[in-house]
Amino acid sequence: MLNIAQAVEADIPLIQAAAAESWRVTYATVFSSAFIEDFLSSAYGTTALRRSISSERSLFVVAKEHDHIVGFCQIGQGDSRYAGGFQLFRIYVIPSHWRRGVGQDLLARAEAWVLEQGGRGYCCYVHGLNEVGKGFYLKNGFLHVPEQDIEGEWYLWKDLAK
Ligand SMILES: CC(C)(COP(=O)(O)OP(=O)(O)OC[C@H]1O[C@@H](n2cnc3c(N)ncnc32)[C@H](O)[C@@H]1OP(=O)(O)O)[C@@H](O)C(=O)NCCC(=O)NCCS
Repeated sequence: MLNIAQAVEADIPLIQAAAAESWRVTYATVFSSAFIEDFLSSAYGTTALRRSISSERSLFVVAKEHDHIVGFCQIGQGDSRYAGGFQLFRIYVIPSHWRRGVGQDLLARAEAWVLEQGGRGYCCYVHGLNEVGKGFYLKNGFLHVPEQDIEGEWYLWKDLAK
């Protein structure tokens, strides 16, 4: 059974393992393996993750199945140029569990948090070559706003007031 819960420090090694699994498959044809490994060690290093998990300006949740982390996401206060300033910073599910609704469940939890904080929508970025990610967002009610794209990254917006 899938359980979605706020991440705690003890989850860090499992988040690192899930991130590595997902990143290596998702970006195999987008980034070099050196870039992927560098990114994983910096953005998913223990210190960086500890900071993200304990941040009061964001919510970091993990999806667990039998004590195994199969996905995670982080949403929070992002760039204040955008309405409400909320941004989905990351959402990853391990490839063996794609297309089982885990991503949708993680999004639902993230969106409930935005609404609790008084937000009415949020943005996110996805690499323009990440067809799986783009498909997921478009299926889940996000709108692509090309004028706001940055360096090959699609800018997407989701209105929660609708
Ligand atoms: C995007 C992601 C979080 C979705 O998680 P998920 O648990 O598979 O999502 P759900 O089961 O709720 O939704 C499934 C939808 O995601 C997309 N998707 C997931 N796996 C896919 C695949 N292998 N091929 C194509 N589309 C896929 C499709 O839009 C799919 O809908 P469909 O089955 O009707 O075509 C997950 O695929 C993932 O971690 N991808 C790599 C990381 C990523 O792209 N993150 C987002 C950008 S930062």
